[in-house]
Amino acid sequence: MESRIFANKIIGWYLDNKRDLPWRNTKDPYRIWLSEIILQQTRVAQGLPYYQAFTEKFPTVWDLSKAEERVVLRTWQGLGYYSRARNLHKCAKIICDNYRGQFPNNYKDLLALPGVGPYTAAAIASFAFGEIKAVVDGNVYRVLSRFFGVHDDIATGSGQRKFAELAQSLISQEKPDLYNQGIMEFGAMQCTPKSPNCHSCVLEDSCVAYHQHLQHQLPVKSKKVKVRERYFYYFNMVKQGHLLMKKRLGKGIWEGLYDFYLYESANSLPIEEVIDLNPLKEVDEGLRFKIEISEEYTHILSHQKIKAVFLTVYLESVKDIIVNLPEGLNFYSLKEVSDLPKPVLISHYLNATFF
Ligand code: ADE
Repeated sequence: MESRIFANKIIGWYLDNKRDLPWRNTKDPYRIWLSEIILQQTRVAQGLPYYQAFTEKFPTVWDLSKAEERVVLRTWQGLGYYSRARNLHKCAKIICDNYRGQFPNNYKDLLALPGVGPYTAAAIASFAFGEIKAVVDGNVYRVLSRFFGVHDDIATGSGQRKFAELAQSLISQEKPDLYNQGIMEFGAMQCTPKSPNCHSCVLEDSCVAYHQHLQHQLPVKSKKVKVRERYFYYFNMVKQGHLLMKKRLGKGIWEGLYDFYLYESANSLPIEEVIDLNPLKEVDEGLRFKIEISEEYTHILSHQKIKAVFLTVYLESVKDIIVNLPEGLNFYSLKEVSDLPKPVLISHYLNATFF
């Protein structure tokens, strides 16, 4: 099929079937950028309230650039992958400091911004500025691999280059923005991963996967990621309605978010052994406390499975003084705890125990 016909079919389908989403009614690159960063992380239905929260709290890139990191992380809370939120904040500062608050208006310069990869740069360049640059995301791989019967592996560099070239050869020269939105929407709504709606499809006549019954073989994606298991034993010290928390430092998961004193193990430990690891025991022999042990929580990340048990340590006497606390820990009131940015695992425990 000629590329112009393919593009027109996609655009026609899109105009008849598109969902009315707030970021589709704007040319503001700031809002488009926000929506695309959020949607890399989650589906449209889950992303919408986050988009609304970000645009309400930070109506312009200046507001976002001036925000405190902890407020940005708190607004992002629940989306996971917090380096994205930190990059979002960093990028807003760069736009304000180096570009006087104006997003660059082309693919190449957009690509130089933190957290903006080829997909996001193409989306912003085409939606906000009409640049003829094809987006390639999971939806596009699926639609193109099925329609054209391309078996190249999308997990490899050569496969990705091949799809990027094919996508660029198909994009509408007149309406690159509608075409890009259209092919992604077509992948999300029509040519879906598990049960594509082939029986009422504008591309069915010439679709290789449909004629050869390959819908479930395409796209080809190799590589299984190994999941690492980790065991977290958290000690939450409670004193007069205040909890001891610390900010996570370093490059691991959840950088900048708040959690409790943590003992991590590569294996599951008997709980008696864990109780013995209570850091306050070492700190102050005279201290009296009562310990409650939570159920085991399982928290799944893309490459990790975390099993966590929380030991809530209630200090019994208001006179108890804690000296030489492990580094970085401070007491926060429950109100302060509720405002701190936290991993979802910690929020689940807090909601079950205190809120
Ligand atoms: N997923 C990623 N970008 C999107 C967009 N602009 N609209 C709908 N879904 C998307």
